[in-house]
Amino acid sequence: MRALSSDRDPATVDVDAVVVPYFQGEPLGPLATAVDRALDGVLTGMRAAGDVLGKFPERAVLPTLGRLPARRVVLLGLGRPGDLDGYRLRNALQFTVRETRRFCSSLAVVVDQAVVAALVLADPIQGEPTAVARAVAEGVALGNHHVAQQKSGEDTGAIAELEVVGLGTSKEIADALVQGAELGEATNRARVLQWRPSNQLTPTQLAAEAERVAEEGGLELEILDRAGMEKLGMGALLAVARGSHEPPKLVFLRYRHGGSSKGAKRLALVGKGITFDSGGISLKPNPGMSAMKADMSGAAAVIEAMGMIARMKAPIEVMAVAALTENMPGGAATKPGDVVTAMNGKTIEIDNTDAEGRLVLADALGYAAEKGATHLVDVATLTGAAVVAIGYPVTAAMGTSRELLEQLRRAGSLAGERIWELPLFPEYDVALACDIADMRNTSGTSASGSINGGVFLREFTSGLPWVHLDIAGSAYHTDALWDSMVPKGPAGVMTRTFAHLPFQMV
Ligand code: BES
Ligand code: MN
Ligand code: ZN
Repeated sequence: MRALSSDRDPATVDVDAVVVPYFQGEPLGPLATAVDRALDGVLTGMRAAGDVLGKFPERAVLPTLGRLPARRVVLLGLGRPGDLDGYRLRNALQFTVRETRRFCSSLAVVVDQAVVAALVLADPIQGEPTAVARAVAEGVALGNHHVAQQKSGEDTGAIAELEVVGLGTSKEIADALVQGAELGEATNRARVLQWRPSNQLTPTQLAAEAERVAEEGGLELEILDRAGMEKLGMGALLAVARGSHEPPKLVFLRYRHGGSSKGAKRLALVGKGITFDSGGISLKPNPGMSAMKADMSGAAAVIEAMGMIARMKAPIEVMAVAALTENMPGGAATKPGDVVTAMNGKTIEIDNTDAEGRLVLADALGYAAEKGATHLVDVATLTGAAVVAIGYPVTAAMGTSRELLEQLRRAGSLAGERIWELPLFPEYDVALACDIADMRNTSGTSASGSINGGVFLREFTSGLPWVHLDIAGSAYHTDALWDSMVPKGPAGVMTRTFAHLPFQMV
């Protein structure tokens, strides 16, 4: 998608559709008013009659009947200004594009000052003009994502040209739009991986995608196979892989920031990459199990983020570790009660083979530390409890470093991805106490399910500053109740946040 900024009168722009956002219960801004005038006041008329209310994310497509060079005007309700943040703005645009791309390939989006002011209110950094420009380009690019590549006769169309009106024509804005389009497209690549069924995205095939990213971005690449894992003593990761015929892979990518000097920060992004999670011997129930093809969402995010990190020339060294395997109940599968030793020497009683994400991450975190990481961030569809606790529109975070969490939050707000903290109070430590090994992998009760995952992972962070992101809800949703508010299917969540994170760490 091409994206450019202009200061033209939106009523004179020659595109397939002009998108006019406005707020519920607020007067129209000057740019929206210009469009309204050219349409003989139809917009104000519809508002007065209650035909449109501006509720989030209301859409209405109006033909312009030759009064404007644009073929259509798309009205877009943004709700109350106090509720708008970068996440909602992107989703509103994403919904709009999903509906219009069938008959539109060029779009102009009007950005009145009220939109910028609302974003400043949500968080000052979201309201910086370049951040707004990126948000708009990302929202439109995200709307271009489509998943039904395997449906015959499907032609969904896409927006090829975007013009953003109202943010000026400076080089900074122009660059931010281009970067936003790229960030949106990287997110969409992660989404395609998430959506791909496990018979078409094995650990081997996902490792091949990492290889493509490495080649394109000039990144250092290493792929460990089962023998390599055995040599390093990755007993936790191997315990998960035992039940499957698909060979596991551990992907390592490194972006080197021009000759990393002593004392410099080295960030590791560590992703859970279960290409299918059946639960193993602790088999999951049937309903909804197919969604477990997306249990590699963390790995997809770290891999695609690395491509952007190289492209954006991050100011510090960044590595990615993705632990890729299926979790299956084959004849050689790990059984509840088995005890294994992780790469860092700690012993684990595997009480429940469905708590496999923390096992593969244990060794992936160990590997990152061995590779010289100074800061650790892991990302995983780790617990159903995260879905229960906070649902889909936000990612749960916990960790051992206030500073790193704050930097992630800032990166998240630049990316339009929400991050909300859960506590790791010492009281939770007892949950994983074990009679025969250093720890169990589950507590056996349903209390504090997501936090227990964090308590477990902390044992494998070598005392480094660390944040764990549980994206079980935010990665992917299929719950009809949420479809009007959170885009259905995969979100590619954390791809963009990770691309911004290194810049927040200097
Ligand atoms: N991949 C699942 C978590 C999950 C659930 C992700 C729903 C997305 C949507 C994870 O491996 C899992 O099975 N977790 C268990 C942990 C439990 C056994 C402690 C869970 O949530 O039930
Ligand atoms: Mn599981
Ligand atoms: Zn899982």
